[in-house]
Amino acid sequence: MDQLTEPATLKAAATLILLYKVALPLLSGIYAHFLRPGKKLRKYGRWAVVTGATDGIGKALCLEFAKQGLDVVLISRTQSKLDDAAKEIEEKFNVETKTISVDFGGGFDTTKQNKVAKALKGLDIGILANNVGMSYPFTKYYHELSDEECANLVSLNTESTLFMTKLVLGDETQGMVARKRGAIVNTSSAAGVQPSPLLAGYAAAKGGIVQFTKSLACELKGLGIDVQVQTPLWVTTKLAKIRKTSLTVPSPSTYAKQAVRFVGYDVACSPYWAHALQLSVADLLPSSLLAAAVFSMHRAIRKKGLKKEAAKAKGQ
Ligand SMILES: NC(=O)c1ccc[n+]([C@@H]2O[C@H](COP(=O)([O-])OP(=O)(O)OC[C@H]3O[C@@H](n4cnc5c(N)ncnc54)[C@H](OP(=O)(O)O)[C@@H]3O)[C@@H](O)[C@H]2O)c1
Repeated sequence: MDQLTEPATLKAAATLILLYKVALPLLSGIYAHFLRPGKKLRKYGRWAVVTGATDGIGKALCLEFAKQGLDVVLISRTQSKLDDAAKEIEEKFNVETKTISVDFGGGFDTTKQNKVAKALKGLDIGILANNVGMSYPFTKYYHELSDEECANLVSLNTESTLFMTKLVLGDETQGMVARKRGAIVNTSSAAGVQPSPLLAGYAAAKGGIVQFTKSLACELKGLGIDVQVQTPLWVTTKLAKIRKTSLTVPSPSTYAKQAVRFVGYDVACSPYWAHALQLSVADLLPSSLLAAAVFSMHRAIRKKGLKKEAAKAKGQ
């Protein structure tokens, strides 16, 4: 390469990188988050099944599905909360509901699996939202977690997703595979796609969901079943322990509206625009720099958490 053509080639390469890494994702992000219409979800089938359905994002998803005329199966741990949420959904949107009380923690054994399978048997399930999940009480070193916490991170976040998916997919004679239609929406987290020191166990559980989804989406594409993973950042829920909404922290209902608009499109997405923007910027950073920044933020949360824990212990 001579001295004259070298700067021109470099300039062309830089323009291409800018186009590919910044301009194109920005334009397609604007389209997906603000302009693209949501799909008509009834085309997938009559029922939406939502795990972790009585609070936070899960309950908001139920309301959004019902708004579109889908009947809703609500699954979570506490029957009284299930009854209240189901009543609210029926009254607001005049749809049918069913409730299943099951504890996804402590191992999702065959007794629990059979209970869910029996309750869902024969339903025309169009959408499964694998939303249930748990994180840490506050950010901690992995070795500080109890064995039970470690097991439940996998059981609630990952095992529930794998089992529920298998259940609604069915086989060539029944379920989504037989009907050749359906949508499976898995709620992961930003922690599942970027390094999350002091949330390592949560990151592992949520990262597993990302890889599961990407692989399964490819397997099922030809069968008319859309599989998607969503990776939110903070949303004002009990899990997040954040009450005040802001530009970057939406309420569950704001988040769920967007989450439902994305169903049937991208295999992996972060449906709330400010989350997607933060993840895209983070993606441009070297991984070690990003890990150090998240580590520092999580250390500050841990400090507050330890203080609160000590104050609580003193008060008892
Ligand atoms: N909020 C955020 O900032 C955020 C960020 C990233 C990802 N996420 C993910 O989003 C999903 C929803 O989180 P969220 O913040 O909406 O949670 P949330 O407000 O704490 O709600 C949790 C729901 O799960 C149910 N649940 C909890 N433990 C259960 C168990 N052992 N068995 C069955 N059901 C159980 C709860 O009902 P019961 O109490 O009756 O069991 C409730 O309906 C999770 O997968 C979470 O990891 C959340």
